[in-house]
Amino acid sequence: MDFKKKILCIGAGYVGGPTMAVIALKCPEYRIEIVDINHEKIKQWNSENLPIYEPGLEEIVKKIRGKNLFFSSDIEKGIKEADIIFVSVNTPTKTFGKGAGMASDLQYWEKTAHQILKHAQSDKIIVEKSTLPVRTAEAMERILKSNSRNIRFEVVSNPEFLAEGTAINDLLEPDRILIGSHPSKEGRAATDQLIDIYIHWVPREKIITTNLWSSELSKLVANAFLAQRISSINSISALCEKTDANITEISYAVGSDSRLGSKFLNSSVGFGGSCFKKDILNLVYIARSYDLREVADYWEMVVTMNEYQQDRFVYKIVKEMFHTVADKKIALFGFAFKANTGDTRESPAIYVAKKLVEEQAIISITDPKALENAKIDLKGLKNISYEIDPCLAAKGADAIAVLTEWDTFKHLDYNKIYRYMKKPAFIFDGRNLLNHKELYDLGFNVYPLGQPDLNHFE
Ligand code: UDX
Ligand code: UDX
Repeated sequence: MDFKKKILCIGAGYVGGPTMAVIALKCPEYRIEIVDINHEKIKQWNSENLPIYEPGLEEIVKKIRGKNLFFSSDIEKGIKEADIIFVSVNTPTKTFGKGAGMASDLQYWEKTAHQILKHAQSDKIIVEKSTLPVRTAEAMERILKSNSRNIRFEVVSNPEFLAEGTAINDLLEPDRILIGSHPSKEGRAATDQLIDIYIHWVPREKIITTNLWSSELSKLVANAFLAQRISSINSISALCEKTDANITEISYAVGSDSRLGSKFLNSSVGFGGSCFKKDILNLVYIARSYDLREVADYWEMVVTMNEYQQDRFVYKIVKEMFHTVADKKIALFGFAFKANTGDTRESPAIYVAKKLVEEQAIISITDPKALENAKIDLKGLKNISYEIDPCLAAKGADAIAVLTEWDTFKHLDYNKIYRYMKKPAFIFDGRNLLNHKELYDLGFNVYPLGQPDLNHFE
C-alpha cells in the first residue's frame, strides 16, 4: 500500500509507544514506525506481551500492528525513509558532573540528533516529544544544521501530556495539543503538517500553536503546577492531623471553587512517576542558571514537601506501632506510582519499603501489575516477599500500608484479612482509599492521611 507520509518515532517507551499507536489508529494513510535501541523492547512490542501495561493499548496495537504500525530495531533505515521524526527518548535527571541531581541529562537526545544527521538523505521535520529544558530545540538545530549536504531540518516542539494509566484516553481525547515552532515560513509549514495529523480526531480549537520556547517551557510548567497542587494539599494533611480538621472535607470544599477545580487535590503518601520530580528539578536548575534564586527556591519546595510527606508516613507507622517495627510483618498494598500502571519509577513505595527495611520490618508486597518492577527496584534487600494475592500478603501481618490507589483494594474481603492478621491489626492508608469506618468496625486500628485516627486503644 502507498502511504501518504512516513512517520518515525525514536524511543518505544511509555510516551512513544502509546502515542504512536493512537496516531496510527487514527491516521490509516500514514505509515508509522517505532524504533528503539533496546532490541528486547522491540521484540516485546512485536509479541503477545507488550513491554508496558496501559488500559486499552493492547487492543489498539493488535488491531493495527503490521498494517500501518511497525516496531523495528533498524534505526538507520527508519531515519532514511521518514518524512517526520518524533523523538521520545528518555531525558533523565543528570547523575554526574555539573547540575547532577537537577539538570536534564541530554546525552540521549544529542546522540539521537547525531544519528538523524548521519543517516538522513532528505529534508525532515523533527518533533520534540520528550520533555526538555527550554531552548533545547536550539541545540538540536545547531547539530542538525552542521551538515554540508543541503538537507533541511525543521525542529518543532509537540510535548505529550498523557498520564500513565489513562494514556489511551488522554491521547484519544486530549485537553489540548500543543505545537511550538519558529515563526518562519518553514516553521509554520512544519506546524501545518502536525496539525494535519491531529486534525484526524482532535477539534481544531484544541490545537494550540505557540513559539518553540513557550511550548518547551509549558510542558515543564504544566507538570510543576500539577505536582504543586499535590504538595500543597499534602502540606495541609499534616496540619489536619494536628487539628482534627479533615483533609478529604477540605479537598472537597476547596476544590468546589470553580477557579480551583477538584482534580489533583487527593492527599497521598506523595507523588511519584518519571516526570514530576525530574521536571521540577529541571525547572529549578534552569531558574538557577539564570540567577533567579527565589524562583528556583519556590519550585524546589514542591519536591521538598513531597519528600517530607513520604517521611512522615513511615514515621507515623513506626510511632503508632509502639515505636518499633523490628521483626513485624508489614504488607504493602500497591507498589506502582499510581493505579492502572505497572510503572514504579519514583514511586513513593520504593522509599517507604526501603525505610521500613532499615527499621528491620519484614515486608510483603502485593500489586496487580508492578511486582516485577518492584523486584528490580528492591533487588538485594533482605526480608521482602512478593505476593500477587493481597490476602496472602496480609497473612500473619501486623499492619497493612496502602501505597497505590488500585480499585481492587477497595473490594477485598477485609473480614477474612483481619482474621488472617496478627492483633492488634493496623491499617495505614496512604491514599485515603478504603472505607475507614467499616475497617474500624471489623477491629482494625485505622490511620488515614489528614483525618482523625480510628483506633481501639484507650
Ligand atoms: C521519556 C521521558 O522520561 C520523558 O521526559 C519524555 O517526555 C519522553 O520520554 P518515557 O517514554 O516514559 O518518557 O521513557 P521510557 O519509557 O524510558 O522510553 C524511552 C525509550 O527511548 C526507551 O525505550 C529507550 O530504550 C529509548 N532510547 C533511549 C532510544 O531509543 N535511544 C536512545 O538513545 C535512548
Ligand atoms: C504526569 C502528568 O499528569 C502528565 O500530564 C505528564 O505528561 C506526565 O506526568 P503521570 O506521571 O503519568 O503524568 O501521572 P499523574 O496522574 O500526573 O500522577 C503523578 C503522581 O501524583 C502519582 O503518583 C499520583 O498517584 C499522584 N497524585 C495524583 C496524588 O498524589 N494526588 C492527586 O490528587 C493526583
